[in-house]
This record gives sequence, structure tokens and C-alpha cells, in this order.
Amino acid sequence: MTSDTLAKKGAADQTLKYVSLVTLTGQNAVLGLSMRYARTRPGDMFISTTAVAMSELVKLFACLLLVWNDEGKSLKNWWGALDSTIIKQPIDTLKVCVPSFIYLIQNNLLYVAASNLDVATYQITYQLKILTTAVFAVTMLNKKLISTQWISLLILIGGVALVQLSDVKEQASQGPEQSKMVGFTAALTACILSGFAGVYFEKILKGSDISVWMRNVQLALLSVPLGLITTYLKDGSVISEKGFFTGYDNFVWFTVMQNALGGLLVAVVVKYADNILKGFACSLAIIITCIASIFIFDFNVTVQFALGAGLVISSIFMYGYTPKPSSSLPQKM
Ligand code: C5P
Repeated sequence: MTSDTLAKKGAADQTLKYVSLVTLTGQNAVLGLSMRYARTRPGDMFISTTAVAMSELVKLFACLLLVWNDEGKSLKNWWGALDSTIIKQPIDTLKVCVPSFIYLIQNNLLYVAASNLDVATYQITYQLKILTTAVFAVTMLNKKLISTQWISLLILIGGVALVQLSDVKEQASQGPEQSKMVGFTAALTACILSGFAGVYFEKILKGSDISVWMRNVQLALLSVPLGLITTYLKDGSVISEKGFFTGYDNFVWFTVMQNALGGLLVAVVVKYADNILKGFACSLAIIITCIASIFIFDFNVTVQFALGAGLVISSIFMYGYTPKPSSSLPQKM
């Protein structure tokens, strides 16, 4: 590559980094709010396992299209790439089974959390994934954390505890009965799964030169059938009685699309930015969610809740802060 093309590619990567971060912020806020709204509005309720399976299907088609674009929009090259990386390397494809299955359970648990927790508490509790990701990165990837990062993780736990123990309510949400305990357990388990899958995925991404879209084709190829099996195992009787798409309307489809877009954005952000910047995007999303839920769900914020949210947001920034090297050290030119 010439220096000119390298510079152009660098500038395009930078643009993609900021565009993906801003989009992820908005998307995170809108997804939390729409999942909550879809699960608590009156009327026929959709089956959440079907929505998870549908999101995986959307991601599969989107990634197949993105691989086709990467292959110069040539059908022959596209099929060649799929054949050599997926079909001819079944063991490598099977390695992706682990995160694929874990993400599937995680995505199902997030619907359980969104059905049982108010959206602001849900968004804040889900930030505990920063802690679980750090623990898995330290144990599985031998990453080293600096002391301020360990302190920030303690602040994060304190902030989530304050939010969980505060007595906040959405006056305007309806739908089936909710249990804070069920919601919290689901969110916490999703955090553990998110941390493990994220670190595992990073490990296999770094260990090969397969593109992120191709990896996502592998992920989705497995998660679509696994998702459909889960749907029938868990909700087979309701589906045979009411149908697979019961309760689906444009808003449910919008949520399904949002979920798929979110997954793809996570992949782009991890590739072009990093997990720390992803954390910042999520903390901005918390602020947007809290303000929006005051208007949408008649959410009343207490002092304890605001303090907890403040601690969580500060901890994310503290976790991402890297001190400048000391001036006594030789400076890089
Ligand atoms: O960061 P977090 O664990 O919340 O994001 C995980 C979400 O992103 C899951 O919904 C997963 O299905 C999706 N994902 C994806 N492709 C990746 C990584 C994550 O679709 N390469």
C-alpha cells in the first residue's frame, strides 16, 4: 500500500471509530428503552426467545452482505471466502460455538432483566459487565490492571448496590407482574456471560486474521439454529398454541432490528475503538436513558439512585483513564 492509501485508510478508520461510538451511545439508550416498553405495554405479548432468534437471523444476513462487500461485491470471491474460512475449517468454526451459545443465553436473559427491572436500573446494573470482563481478562488473558482501575471497579460495585437498593419506580409501566430479584439475577448472570464471551471472542479474534464480519457469520451460523432450538424447548407449547410471531407488530420488529444492530456495533467498536471507549459510550447512554425514562415511564429519581448512577458513571471514566507517563521517563518522539 502507498503512504497515500495508508493515510486515507487511517482517516476512514478514525471516522468509523467515532461514527460507531456515537451510534452505539444512541443505540444503547434506544434499545434499553424499547425493550422495556415492548415488555411492559398492555396487549398481546410477543415471545422473547423468538425475538432473540430473529435478531440472530438478521445479523446473519447482514454479515453475509458485509462479507460480500469486503470481497469486492463479487459472488465468486464471496463464496470462495465462505468456503475456505467456514466450510473447509470446521474445527475453527466450532471454536466459535462457545461465544455463540453464551451470547444466545445472554441475549435471552437480557429480555428477562428488561421485563423485571425499570430501564434505568437495568442499564446501570448491566454495567457490572465491566467488572466481569476485567476479571476474565486478568485470569484468561493475563491482562494487568493498574491500581486506579481496581479502585474504580469497587466504586462500580458500590454504585450498582446503591441503585439496586434504592426504591425507584416507573409509575407508567404496565404488563405482567415484575420481580426485582428475578431481574437482578438475570442481569447479573448476563454480566458474567458477557465478560466471559467478550474475552473469549477477543482471544480467538487475535489468534487469527479472519475478518470480524466473517467471525460474525460463524457466530450467527451457529446461533440461528441454537436460537430456534432454545425457542422450541422453552416456549414450544405457547408457539404451537399461538404461533411463532404472536404479538409481533412494527415496534417488536424495530426492537429486533435494534438488537441486531447493537450486536454488529459492538463488533465494530471493539475492532476500531476499544472496550474502554465502548464503556464511555454506555455511560452516556445511561444518562440519556434516565432522562428519557422520566418522560416515557414517569420514572421518579431518588437521591440514592442519582448518587449510585453518578458513582457508576464516574467509575467507568476512572477505569478508562490512563495516567500520562511520568516526565522523568524518556519521551517518545
Ligand atoms: O458488550 P455486550 O456483552 O453487552 O454485547 C454483546 C452483544 O453483542 C450480544 O448481543 C452479542 O450477540 C453481540 N455481539 C455480536 N457480535 C460480536 C460480539 C457481540 O453480535 N462480535
